Amino acid sequence: MNKFIKLLVFFVLWNFFSTIAYAATGKELFDRHCVQCHQPGQEMIIPMAYSLRDSLMQPDSILREKILSGTNAMPGYYGLLKNKEISDILLYMRMMW
Ligand code: HEC
Repeated sequence: MNKFIKLLVFFVLWNFFSTIAYAATGKELFDRHCVQCHQPGQEMIIPMAYSLRDSLMQPDSILREKILSGTNAMPGYYGLLKNKEISDILLYMRMMW
């Protein structure tokens, strides 16, 4: 196999396994902080005016601000979650919803 192909295979596998690792951390964090109110793949039990699946279409930067500051009945996580942890949670949520 030529070097280029080996390198390409390496990067594809690397990318694949690191995505799984981030999603696994995201699940742990989600189970610790969010699962009391959000069940994976489900809309909220309290009828909400909008769908969580639709709100996950917003970019990370917007959702991160909302998660840090809280919105309406949802508590804020400022000081509790780091930026990277929020990115991992959002990756997990985008896979589940
Ligand atoms: C105490 C219950 C509760 C917990 C815990 C909670 N949420 Fe929420 N979440 C809500 C409610 C209620 C809403 C709808 C808020 C609104 O009306 O704006 C919401 C909305 C959201 C939205 C959509 C925001 C928008 O305006 O588009 C996201 C994304 C979200 N939550 C993520 C999370 C994440 C990630 C966690 C854990 C770090 C979490 N939530 C923990 C109750 C909760």
